Amino acid sequence: MNRTLIIGASGQIGKQLTQNMLNEGQHVVALVRDEQKLSDIKSENMTIVEADLTDDFSHAFKGCSTVVFVAGSGGNTGADKTILIDLWAACRAADYAKQHDIKHFIMVSSIGADAPAEGPEEMQPYLVAKHMADEHLMHSGLRYSIIRPGTLTNNKAHNGFTTQRPSNKDEAIITRADVAKALAYCVAHQAKSNTVKELFNGAKHLDEVMS
Ligand SMILES: NC(=O)c1ccc[n+]([C@@H]2O[C@H](COP(=O)([O-])OP(=O)(O)OC[C@H]3O[C@@H](n4cnc5c(N)ncnc54)[C@H](OP(=O)(O)O)[C@@H]3O)[C@@H](O)[C@H]2O)c1
Repeated sequence: MNRTLIIGASGQIGKQLTQNMLNEGQHVVALVRDEQKLSDIKSENMTIVEADLTDDFSHAFKGCSTVVFVAGSGGNTGADKTILIDLWAACRAADYAKQHDIKHFIMVSSIGADAPAEGPEEMQPYLVAKHMADEHLMHSGLRYSIIRPGTLTNNKAHNGFTTQRPSNKDEAIITRADVAKALAYCVAHQAKSNTVKELFNGAKHLDEVMS
């Protein structure tokens, strides 16, 4: 049985991804700090593992074949949490994945993680954390798909995508619902090669932009 570990399953994208995958009959291991945050999701196909990403969370990987890292420290915390979650926990997740022979690691990174120094000054610690976590995964030997979404919105799914960064910053956006769909697509289509893609709302079908 293929099981997917979702790290950050209680988050805004993570919860939609968890629900989408369960709706498709897939088996999910949901790593959360507080299982109450998933109390509205009932499924025999979901195993909840409570863990804090600042502690050892290696036990969550047992029996999984795919990992999605969709956790993040959030915009209201300081650089300390950015280092602990977006950088260090993401790196440790890749290390644990390697130890557990995970077949495919899907990382939610960020637009701008390729070139942190070119980002807005206040975003640079976050972008450096994302950049270094991505680099760590790329050098891990794991099969990986790194997705770097544009600015996230809570609008309803647009169902259209592009990997071409729009020149207008205000258009470099994507809904969380669409990111969740793209992640579910990645899980369902085990990558044949390693990829790093920025992702925005656009006019193309997922098949066109993810293959
Ligand atoms: N905001 C943007 O415009 C933007 C753009 C590009 C990429 N991203 C990235 O997209 C990703 C997901 O975004 P989102 O909006 O879904 O984030 P979110 O709603 O803030 O979810 C973050 C998740 O990480 C979990 N988490 C944080 N600290 C943790 C800890 N110490 N232990 C265990 N879990 C912890 C949260 O758990 P709790 O529910 O317990 O808090 C939550 O499940 C993040 O990596 C973010 O950096 C964001």
